[in-house]
Amino acid sequence: MEEIPVFAPHIGVDTLKHLTDALEVGWLGMGALTREFEERIAERLGLNGRYVVATNTGTAALHIALLAAGVGPGDEVIATSFNYVADHQAIRATGAEVVMCDIREDNLGIDCEKAQALITPRTRAIMPLHFAGIPCDHAGVYRLARRHNLRVIEDATHAFGTAVADKPIGGFGDIACFSFDPVKIITSIDGGAVVTGSEKELERLRHLRLLGVDKDTMLRYANSRAWDYDVVCLGFRYHLTNIMASVGISQLKRLDEFIESRRRVCRAYSAAFSRLEGVIVPATDFSNVSSFIYSLRVLGGRRDALIEHLKKRGVGAGVHFIPVHRHSFYRDARCGDLSVTERVCSEVVTLPLHSNMKPDWTERVIEAVTSFFH
Ligand SMILES: Cc1ncc(COP(=O)(O)O)c(C=O)c1O
Repeated sequence: MEEIPVFAPHIGVDTLKHLTDALEVGWLGMGALTREFEERIAERLGLNGRYVVATNTGTAALHIALLAAGVGPGDEVIATSFNYVADHQAIRATGAEVVMCDIREDNLGIDCEKAQALITPRTRAIMPLHFAGIPCDHAGVYRLARRHNLRVIEDATHAFGTAVADKPIGGFGDIACFSFDPVKIITSIDGGAVVTGSEKELERLRHLRLLGVDKDTMLRYANSRAWDYDVVCLGFRYHLTNIMASVGISQLKRLDEFIESRRRVCRAYSAAFSRLEGVIVPATDFSNVSSFIYSLRVLGGRRDALIEHLKKRGVGAGVHFIPVHRHSFYRDARCGDLSVTERVCSEVVTLPLHSNMKPDWTERVIEAVTSFFH
């Protein structure tokens, strides 16, 4: 029996065509397709007076977003421990400290009341994650940030295409970061993007993205380069190449189809699993949600037994996440009360979810999960 993987990118002939066309142009580095990808992202998010900077990973996007927001040594940034370590590593790479905050029961995003208790005069920013593509308490985060004069860097790596009050995440607010890594809703093989509402930060992000080299962006966007450049600040090689951008463009053209197909699977899962005792399904009907993963909570200490049961039936399952405060490098990080995180991290299991997933695979996953509980 074919094993159903947790993740499976959807790469069609359309992507292959974009890729070969890009290779034939012969400009492999950052160029006109990078610019086109940024423009298409801006269009998809309905940006108005906001700007996109494409990067080579989501982690790079988070790193330069923090730097552009002015985060540095001596600062603290509040992030959830229930998260992938990319956020925390990006924060530490700026020289700032991470402060680990708990999550809410309903959306598994940051608990703003608990975040408030962690604020000190050193707190510079807050980095909320929209876990699994489901919005966190967006209004609560921005209320807190306004009250305490904090920057907000949204980790929207799971939520490209998710909307809050009918407005796409990234289309409003402070800074948002996306990921287009191999398993995300759309992929550019590896890639990311920062969205900012500040023209000044746009320029800084472009410098940070490409070794601090001035004059370079507009020339490269025309598949050309400057020979008389200056270096104006510290920077990194975080740019997205034309080749990666060509893959991203092809995938972006199909985003709505991908979101809709994933929504159908998520709804079928929730309809089947909400009848079971001992599980908690995501607290959403998935309208306005662009689902990166489907995360089921298994109560009563039975999560690992379910994973074993699924494995025997050829159904892959993952765990998002091991909380970051448990990793040895983050042992000494300042933490708030993490009681919800501690409990939820032993309950969550990620079930297979793909764009255009085979209908009989959806049925097989449902059957394998329900057979565990009957
Ligand atoms: C929550 C979260 N943030 C950030 C990232 C980093 O994105 P990338 O893999 O594009 O560097 C990931 C990647 O899986 C993630 O899950």
